[in-house]
Amino acid sequence: MISYLDGTFQLDTANTSYIFRVSKFGHLETIHYGELLQDQSLEAIILKHTAVIGSTVAYDASDPLYSLDTLTLEWSGIGKGDYRHSPAEIRMPDGSFVTDFKYRDHRIVDGCIPIQTLPSAYSVQSDSQTLEITLTDDPGEVTLLMYYTVFPKSDVISRRVVLVNHNENPLIIRSLMSMMIDLPNRNYSLVTFHGGWIKEAHRQDRNLQYGLFVNESTTGASSNRHNPGFLLAEQGSSESSGRVYGFNLVYSGNHYEGIELSNQDLVRVMSGINPHCFEWQLAKDERFETPEAVMTFSDHGYNGMSGHFHDFINENIVRGDWKGRERPVLLNNWEAHFFSFTQNKLLRLARRARRLGVELFVLDDGWFGKRDSDNAGLGDYNVNRKKLPGGLSAFARKINRLGMQFGLWFEPEMVNPDSDLYRLHPEYAVRIPGRDPSLGRNQFVLDLCNPKVRDYIVESVRGILQEADISYVKWDMNRHMSDMFSPCLTNQGEFFHRYMIGLYDILARIFGDQPHILLETCSSGGNRFDLGMLCYSPQIWASDDTDPVERLAIQKGLSYLYPLSSIGAHVSSAPHQQTLRSTSLSTRFNTASFGCLGYEIDLKYLSRLEKREVKEQIAFYKKHRGTMQFGRFYRLEAQKSNKLHWETVAKDGHEAIAGLFQTQSCAGEGLNILPLTGLDSRSKYTLRTRPQPLYIRRFGGLINHILPFHVHPDGFLVSILNKFYSLTDCVEEYEGYGDLLESGVKLSNQFVGSYYNSHTRLLGDFGSNLYVIRRESQG
Ligand code: GLA
Repeated sequence: MISYLDGTFQLDTANTSYIFRVSKFGHLETIHYGELLQDQSLEAIILKHTAVIGSTVAYDASDPLYSLDTLTLEWSGIGKGDYRHSPAEIRMPDGSFVTDFKYRDHRIVDGCIPIQTLPSAYSVQSDSQTLEITLTDDPGEVTLLMYYTVFPKSDVISRRVVLVNHNENPLIIRSLMSMMIDLPNRNYSLVTFHGGWIKEAHRQDRNLQYGLFVNESTTGASSNRHNPGFLLAEQGSSESSGRVYGFNLVYSGNHYEGIELSNQDLVRVMSGINPHCFEWQLAKDERFETPEAVMTFSDHGYNGMSGHFHDFINENIVRGDWKGRERPVLLNNWEAHFFSFTQNKLLRLARRARRLGVELFVLDDGWFGKRDSDNAGLGDYNVNRKKLPGGLSAFARKINRLGMQFGLWFEPEMVNPDSDLYRLHPEYAVRIPGRDPSLGRNQFVLDLCNPKVRDYIVESVRGILQEADISYVKWDMNRHMSDMFSPCLTNQGEFFHRYMIGLYDILARIFGDQPHILLETCSSGGNRFDLGMLCYSPQIWASDDTDPVERLAIQKGLSYLYPLSSIGAHVSSAPHQQTLRSTSLSTRFNTASFGCLGYEIDLKYLSRLEKREVKEQIAFYKKHRGTMQFGRFYRLEAQKSNKLHWETVAKDGHEAIAGLFQTQSCAGEGLNILPLTGLDSRSKYTLRTRPQPLYIRRFGGLINHILPFHVHPDGFLVSILNKFYSLTDCVEEYEGYGDLLESGVKLSNQFVGSYYNSHTRLLGDFGSNLYVIRRESQG
């Protein structure tokens, strides 16, 4: 995995090589990160420096050709001739900002070296190797430890640094990235994932231009605005071809990614804690650990790259009993009730849910304190006896007796001013003495830098978890930070990072010895969808937007960085509460099934037919969820701009599920091809549409062309008929070897305005189908 010969390091994964060397002056020079290379002379690919570039500063008088500005480096300081942005801005013990870290020695160890203050990836000893390189700035008496961990099976390499001050005088860190790498530009595009509340993780592509592009968060969380994960792809890369790099950070707070194209056509990539409001003092012998950054490369396009990240997260990030374990189908009562529920209402919903096959009943916000709206109660985790007269444990027992597990919502990092906790301990809230704090969703953030606050949260949440049989926790966090200040800190520049360390400490203390609890973190949806959270919670609520059309963009964006097993996705009522768009129950399910399926809907409003449909959906999902959650996921190139195609292939290849989603219908739609991939050309398969009901109201006035008698299309009769009678949407069935199916299955006609029979696919706006491709014989 990791080798060292004559000053050159080579880190190999199954399909990639990462090579760098110690330069003649002791700097680490990047030679190659990309395709797997065999052992050979590297001269052909080493960057050449045969002319002195104008305006450069020579590092050492003995060699005018050696300028740090023109090198591809693994790390760069300030003030020695490299004028690109540096991964570190340190006020050194001598008061200057100049740093020059050079190689001293290294060691290679099996496994990972865990970070003490932060979560990080892990592995079974023999599955990974770590390279620790010691670099020193000798005049400053400061050491930089650089860590590279190789995860060969998933083609991921992680990086991080630790800074140690050996000087009598303190130093001040104003910025310290986790990683830096310089890559020769190969016409790269930068892909980032942007958004906001109910519109998370929308993919954005931009061509790299000279200068610096920053992808960052300043909200106190990894944020719904700019996910820490990003990609660099050779222009022209597709889902299945092209050279694509993926980067992400195991951190849930303010992050910073700098991507800089220099005048020498070198791309500098950096990722780490955001320097925004950050300042950290290191006294003699103190150390500072940065979070772990992860990177991968594939020359098989975006799908190749995201497949690496999916394997890595399932294998090396998610831990505990839920690692690799199929997730239960849940029902969450939030969109059904909001704050307004009684025990009877809940139990009626739970009974209906159970009859349809739901396995886990989740009670969302509103069960404690005076929490009848989002104005009050946060911080007071005493059960509201008006709503749950017998208390939580009795309620959980009732749910268990129905045959379901019980799950509960918390928002432990927050407090409402109108709460007993705030009245008793106003000093627990984040605020600056002498300044009125600002509210977000009527709440303040609790000061997790304060050990007493952390203890309060741990005791409150653990107390509830001990009181009742709770198998699942939804851990929410619903506002951005403001008024950053903690009386527990002498240096307020530490606030944001100390908050994160405090949060990770709390999560470890509460859930560390309860690995059976399935934790789903949430932050107004996907405001904290990151690898740091995934070290504690195997799945994350992706978005408060449950409109499937919006979800297609959100889940697609997330899928570049995170596996389907980590994406919470629910079926809700339509018109959707976020967009007022109406979509079919089948499309709601088809979209949510590419994730961890749940329902967030008042089942009492479903007709008998719709209940039957939900029951069939859940049965289908349970049968195929191993594939839906843990299969190899592919985004497929759509033949038409109004289509999205997804496919997930079971790890053992016994089946694949393909989804065809049509965002807008188009008049007189022509040929539709179902693209497929990941099949074995020597194995024989059957392909069959998942049957889904076709409600007769879909036909509108055309109903009168189908029925032998005349009815009012919006009338009573059609409305009643619609509740009890449906057709089955066109089911297609084909067979063939993998190569035949992968050459593109030609589907039946869509409805084109002139004709209907049972071989006509009725998609319309927001229509979709799932196809099951089952292996019948193995080649
Ligand atoms: C946030 C979450 C929702 C729900 C509400 C409850 O918005 O994202 O899913 O839990 O809080 O207040």
